Amino acid sequence: MRYYGNKTKLLPFIEKVVKKTGINQNSTFVDLFSGTSAVGKHFKRLGYKVYSNDNLEFAYTLSKTFIELNKLPKFTRLKKELSIKENREIFDYFNNLKPTKEGFIFQNYSPNGGRKYFSDENALKIDTIRKQIHNWKQKEIINEFEYYYLITSLLRAVNLVSNVSGTYAAFLKNWDKRALKPLILKEVEIIPSTQRNKAFKQDANKLIKNLNADILYLDPPYNTRQYASNYFILELIAEGWFDKKPKIYGKTGMREYKMQKSKYCSKLTATSTLSDLIQNVKAKCLILSYNNEGILQKKDILEILNKLGNVEVFESEHIKI
Ligand SMILES: C[S@@+](CC[C@H](N)C(=O)[O-])C[C@H]1O[C@@H](n2cnc3c(N)ncnc32)[C@H](O)[C@@H]1O
Repeated sequence: MRYYGNKTKLLPFIEKVVKKTGINQNSTFVDLFSGTSAVGKHFKRLGYKVYSNDNLEFAYTLSKTFIELNKLPKFTRLKKELSIKENREIFDYFNNLKPTKEGFIFQNYSPNGGRKYFSDENALKIDTIRKQIHNWKQKEIINEFEYYYLITSLLRAVNLVSNVSGTYAAFLKNWDKRALKPLILKEVEIIPSTQRNKAFKQDANKLIKNLNADILYLDPPYNTRQYASNYFILELIAEGWFDKKPKIYGKTGMREYKMQKSKYCSKLTATSTLSDLIQNVKAKCLILSYNNEGILQKKDILEILNKLGNVEVFESEHIKI
């Protein structure tokens, strides 16, 4: 997934640093700012017990699926409801669904709504599928894990047909080829594990007070771009719009996100927020990823971390997306 700060390409580097700690696979690895879950997934595969956290709903959705789920959901009630036998047929059902239920996405984020995030056809499909998942959840035809699994599949599909260049802060003037392709939902691969892995959706500075970690991995935002605004459409789709109509505004149809602003994205608050977090750390080893062009200065980071114990710095070249 295209996501600011996605660590997929840096996984070998992060793994090398983790190995140096000598803390082995049966330990607890906490990914406190999980984003796409790329880091948590990697260490879950290696056998660690992973706790994953992010304050955004779409990131939490990914963690519920990729981190907390250790085997494919059974969809027992849904299969009965649809008279099908295999999980794959649920996706056939979605992909053949007649997109009739005009909803929030079609009304606001397609040419019909005066914006070009999605083609009219795909926007209608997103509305229809999202509403269907919501209804199944309401009627308890799917359980919590099945719900997050289906939303994960929808988010992945949406990401592939969005008419944006990386983030959702703006839509493209002209249609990108990928946005004209039909929205297709697919089964999602689950990482098997025997550990009791867990997903959280909390402010990192609050959650840290209740966590004990062997390895605590911190990957906070490093610039002033708020994730809640840059990925607001994914957040909107993850949260749904059924209980309370979201307030949107401006040319891009940005959703109100005051409550989700991160203090790590402001020069005024980033240092004190990291310092506050570090005071509450209970971990054998802490690993912090940061960018040398970020808001926090290296000397400030070192000053904060030095209060905890010995600090080592590992550097790696990384090309920005
Ligand atoms: C640099 S990204 C993490 C990227 C992730 N490691 C990956 O590979 O995809 C930072 C993440 O921190 C989350 N975040 C920002 N402030 C937070 C806070 N106070 N509490 C919890 N999560 C926060 C953002 O939503 C974002 O997903």
